[in-house]
Amino acid sequence: VPAPHAIAALKSAGCYLLGTATTVPEALALERAGIDAIVAQGFEAGGHRGTFEEPFSAGEIGLFALLPQVVDAVQIPVIAAGGIADGRGIAAAFTLGAAGVQLGTAFVVTPESEADPVFRRALAEPRARNTRLTRVFTGRPARAVVTRFVAELADHEQQTLPYPFQRAYTGQVGKAGLARGTADFHSLFAGQSAAVSRPLPAAKLFETLVAETERALKRS
Ligand SMILES: Cc1cc2nc3c(=O)[nH]c(=O)nc-3n(C[C@H](O)[C@H](O)[C@H](O)COP(=O)(O)O)c2cc1C
Repeated sequence: VPAPHAIAALKSAGCYLLGTATTVPEALALERAGIDAIVAQGFEAGGHRGTFEEPFSAGEIGLFALLPQVVDAVQIPVIAAGGIADGRGIAAAFTLGAAGVQLGTAFVVTPESEADPVFRRALAEPRARNTRLTRVFTGRPARAVVTRFVAELADHEQQTLPYPFQRAYTGQVGKAGLARGTADFHSLFAGQSAAVSRPLPAAKLFETLVAETERALKRS
């Protein structure tokens, strides 16, 4: 949680502050600190865990279980994140009390994304169904597609350099692989719904998500 003087300075500059929580105690700590809205990040989410009250294992909670508990615990708005890839997921998050949703992986495959094309293509392959938490890329647990790099270094998870120094060398290995057209060594950060991602232009994807959500909410 940022220091009180930092939060006060950002607020006096007119900033709206979001904080990621992976447990109820983290959500309460953010609310007490004066954060404006909580992003409840489920275990399904792609990329780094937002867990800030160790151990990391305390934050390994699926969004369906985490979201209603966070919504009940805090008074401020809660934004759902983790494994949401289509309108059904968005409607489910609203039903569980979310005020909004945050989708990461679903937008990685859009043409506007800055992700390398080799990364985007890898998310269209069957292996995108297989993601796991790993420290091998940065020294901090992050969810990524299980590539050759992730699988072969699995026994060395506890021997990484501290975050973010591990990135200094794994970034180079990943880039070298991409330059040769392979995603096997790159950090393919992605959530558990990666295989559902659709490579539509971002605006089209957004419209599709809105329409799907409206349809799903009408049915319920
Ligand atoms: C490629 C990628 C990079 C990410 N980078 C960050 C980051 O720099 N900071 C952060 O707070 N979250 C980051 N996230 C996590 C997202 O904020 C969000 O929690 C997550 O994408 C939601 O789950 P989903 O990917 O299943 O939609 C990243 C996610 C992905 C997929």
